[in-house]
Amino acid sequence: PVAERVGDLLGRMTLAEKTGQMLQLNAKDGVRHLIEDLHAGSILHASPERVLEAAALTGRTRLRIPLLVAEDCIHGHSFWEGATIYPTQLGLAATWDPELVERVARATAVEVAATGVHWTFSPVLCIARDLRWGRVSETFGEDPFLIGELASAMVRGYQGDGLGDPTAVLACAKHFAGYSETQGGRDASEADISRRKLRSWFLPPFERVAREGCRTFMLGYQSMDGVPVTVNDWLLNEVLRGEWGYTGTLVTDWDNVGRMVWEQRIYADHTQAAAAAVRAGNDMVMTTPQFFEGAQNAVAEGTLDEAEIDAAVRRVLTLKFDLGLFENPRHPDAARQAAVIGSAGHTVLNLEAARRSLVLLTNDGTLPLGVGLVAGRDGRAVAGADPAPRTVAVVGPNADDAQTQLGDWAGSSGQADWLPDGHPRHMIRTVLDGFREHVPDGWGVTYARGAEILSVGPDPEGAFFPDGQPRPDVVVPAEPSETLIAEAVAAAEAADYVVAVVGDRIELVGEGRSTATLELVGDQAALLDALAATGKPLVVVVISSKPLVLPPSALGAAAVLHAFNPGMQGGRAVAEVLLGLVEPSGRLPVSFARHAGQQPTYYNQIRGQHGSRYADLTQRPAFVFGEGLSYTTVAYSGLEVLTASLGESDTLRARVTVHNTGRRPAVETVQVYISDTVTSVTWAEKELKAYRQVTLAPGEVREVLLELPVSECTLVDAAGRRVVEPGAFELLVGPSSRDDALLRAGFTVKG
Ligand code: IFM
Repeated sequence: PVAERVGDLLGRMTLAEKTGQMLQLNAKDGVRHLIEDLHAGSILHASPERVLEAAALTGRTRLRIPLLVAEDCIHGHSFWEGATIYPTQLGLAATWDPELVERVARATAVEVAATGVHWTFSPVLCIARDLRWGRVSETFGEDPFLIGELASAMVRGYQGDGLGDPTAVLACAKHFAGYSETQGGRDASEADISRRKLRSWFLPPFERVAREGCRTFMLGYQSMDGVPVTVNDWLLNEVLRGEWGYTGTLVTDWDNVGRMVWEQRIYADHTQAAAAAVRAGNDMVMTTPQFFEGAQNAVAEGTLDEAEIDAAVRRVLTLKFDLGLFENPRHPDAARQAAVIGSAGHTVLNLEAARRSLVLLTNDGTLPLGVGLVAGRDGRAVAGADPAPRTVAVVGPNADDAQTQLGDWAGSSGQADWLPDGHPRHMIRTVLDGFREHVPDGWGVTYARGAEILSVGPDPEGAFFPDGQPRPDVVVPAEPSETLIAEAVAAAEAADYVVAVVGDRIELVGEGRSTATLELVGDQAALLDALAATGKPLVVVVISSKPLVLPPSALGAAAVLHAFNPGMQGGRAVAEVLLGLVEPSGRLPVSFARHAGQQPTYYNQIRGQHGSRYADLTQRPAFVFGEGLSYTTVAYSGLEVLTASLGESDTLRARVTVHNTGRRPAVETVQVYISDTVTSVTWAEKELKAYRQVTLAPGEVREVLLELPVSECTLVDAAGRRVVEPGAFELLVGPSSRDDALLRAGFTVKG
């Protein structure tokens, strides 16, 4: 019946009404013109008042077609005061836990749906490559398999049991595809990327969610081989719609159609650009109002067939019918909002996600700080075997910076001017809050800011955007301040432990905000040097959007804990882990460089680069994909492949023994990599193909069974086909991708 209803409605629409259905416009500056004159089918960045105003206006249009309301709800509802903000995607990726990620997405959908939003522009399936790129925090990291697992979970969470469920929201896989293969890390630069490379690394996660029913895809800004994704017939029609049979809806990114005129300059006017975008298969055009006239002109001129507009509108209307918007427009619902937004249950889930997202990178045994502390009934530490009271100096610019702790897309991007101040401070637990609220009675907590990171000012170079608009928020490193450092040193000298919380800042993160360096900005390295010189046990916590290059004073500190923007409960989670109330269990979804020039650092690089060592630096990253410590040690032994010779349709079965050799429990992520011994084309030395998370009690020995379909042991051959090449393989199993951490066993795939 949906197809019939769509056909009936389409048959009654004028060309102008159809063209308008393809428009998604920015509600920020008012909606009357968008609906009455442009017949817009969708709005984004709309306050609840605007959503209701827009709904009233559409109710007075000839056909009363409901609007699709879209928003960037990326790790929680980005632009809703009091919404639960979870760790960023990169933080969630550090959990390696699809079930947890699905629950986070489901809870997000419940909050988002209550605000009248039907469509979230999430998840991001881009691969983190050059770490200087400003949007690394929005990714699930550097590995296509892990990205596929987590993206699939997130889509399931958003879309729930089906779009008929009023708490379901449309998911959007973005940015299709290759957007993160930047030049020099600069956002939206032309991606120098071959079709084979796309098929090898960038497309597999998208293919997975396309086949699993992710209802919408967003197209990247960039061009590849001179062709913007917006009009890339091969990618959109041959691959996505053709090979994968995708029937979902495609939305452009922000003004992609206009950019082909004013920025990329491959069309002389909006008529040409609109015609090309429709012919390539775009269904919804984001924030290019000129599309309205352009597409109609193209039909009048005969350069665009109206049937192509019909095909797009059919897909847009299908979404609206599937969501049931004609019967229930799903307006903002104040009662539901009061019940679900920032609810106690979501806060508990958020704390769980934050705890699981933290990655312990080094530890000389200083952590946990309070050996013998256990959590009391109120979550505060209670002294057990080690009752001596201590003083902890919590210092550093990110120790009490709520906004940076939340990260990008948390009321901070300036898109949503109705939420200028971000999220309520009282909902956020910084590291300082966490220590104050969770140390045992009798312990002391002192604080000093220690250093500033940035000053923000107008762009000294004037115009920034190609259309002449200045960029308002240019940042420069903060001036050094001896006073701030001296205050932190005084606090350190009077304490038993020093917890220094450093990192980046929100102004260094996001779309159009790539960085040339990865070092700690401002006086932070000098602060760490001064703290190290006190001789007090120094624990460094890095709260940042992405991997940073850590200075020697951090790498030589007693311990380093990394938090990728861990969300509203992140500071509490950090304090709990440092105090030993919670075990650290996160694993890196992305490698850490030793130097900003050491790019790229991802683990699954192509073999045969014998010149890959720099003359002045190793190419080995500081920390590799999959790494992360626990407060215990886990030994791996006895890796055994149960059937060493297999056909292509068989499943490889293997077992390995893991032994918790320490005195604390652990969540161990048993990682399974494959290495194809000889390949017809150069290929990655190893690739993650599976993993299992197991909880181990102190002293516990567990045999873990591993299964992997041989059909997963593929490469992309010279002709661009994904194939299994028979021959010898190695199975690599261990706690990280680091070679010396992996056990190896051979197996053969028969031809
Ligand atoms: O969804 C985003 C996209 O990721 C980047 N450009 C703007 C879009 C809408 O806000």
